[in-house]
Amino acid sequence: MADITLTVKRTSTADEAGPSWQSFQVPEIAETMSVLDALIWVQQNSDPTLAFRRACRVKMCGTCGVVINGREGLACGTLVRSLVGDRGGEVRVEPMRHLPVVRDLVTDPGVFYQHLAGAGAAFSPKDGGQEPAEILPDSKERKTIDPHRECIYCGLCYSACSVAGLDSGFLGPAALNRAFALVSDSRDGGGKQRLQVAATEQGIWRCHTIFECTAVCPKGIPITAAIQGLKRKVVVSKLKGLIGLDR
Ligand code: SF4
Ligand code: FES
Repeated sequence: MADITLTVKRTSTADEAGPSWQSFQVPEIAETMSVLDALIWVQQNSDPTLAFRRACRVKMCGTCGVVINGREGLACGTLVRSLVGDRGGEVRVEPMRHLPVVRDLVTDPGVFYQHLAGAGAAFSPKDGGQEPAEILPDSKERKTIDPHRECIYCGLCYSACSVAGLDSGFLGPAALNRAFALVSDSRDGGGKQRLQVAATEQGIWRCHTIFECTAVCPKGIPITAAIQGLKRKVVVSKLKGLIGLDR
């Protein structure tokens, strides 16, 4: 097995010169070695000060999102072999975009969570709804909602979204995907309010349908389709007079 060169963009609060790239030689310890395994190897064997987040190591928790060779991905879900083959080579890792860097690969997801909250990410049960509430597995409603419920809030779609990079007020793909899942759910009572928020200047109409969010989502969520679905719901709701006409 060949060694790899792991090149990491490093940022330290003490370093006034700004970020810099640092390379480490890492042995490929297994064919199934992930980028996260390589980062852990560096932390344990070369530089214990290297900072990054991780928890589950199995693509479930969403904490290890980074940019790998220029593309957003989960460090634990990206195999080194898939990047350099069996001959070794360089893997470049940097923090996610559009979020403040705390240190090295650790970013502050505050604005990402603020947008989720702003779009109404919490389920709001309908008054007087049937108990137990149910949506049958083979129903049209279930098929509409299900692809949009698997979000692990990793933030990779936000990092890949060029509109989010230009406008930090844009709600962003994950928040809009969550809003779509909830307004499509008959058990939820907050639909009107969610559509009203989605219809504002920094909601659905800021999306340029570039599909980058959908391309990088590790859970395969059709995020762009959710935003298009929200647009249709907003237009229909406005025509029916259910939500205001002003943005
Ligand atoms: S929609 Fe996909 S890429 Fe975006 S936060 Fe959720 S899991 Fe991550
Ligand atoms: S460590 Fe949990 S998703 Fe990578």
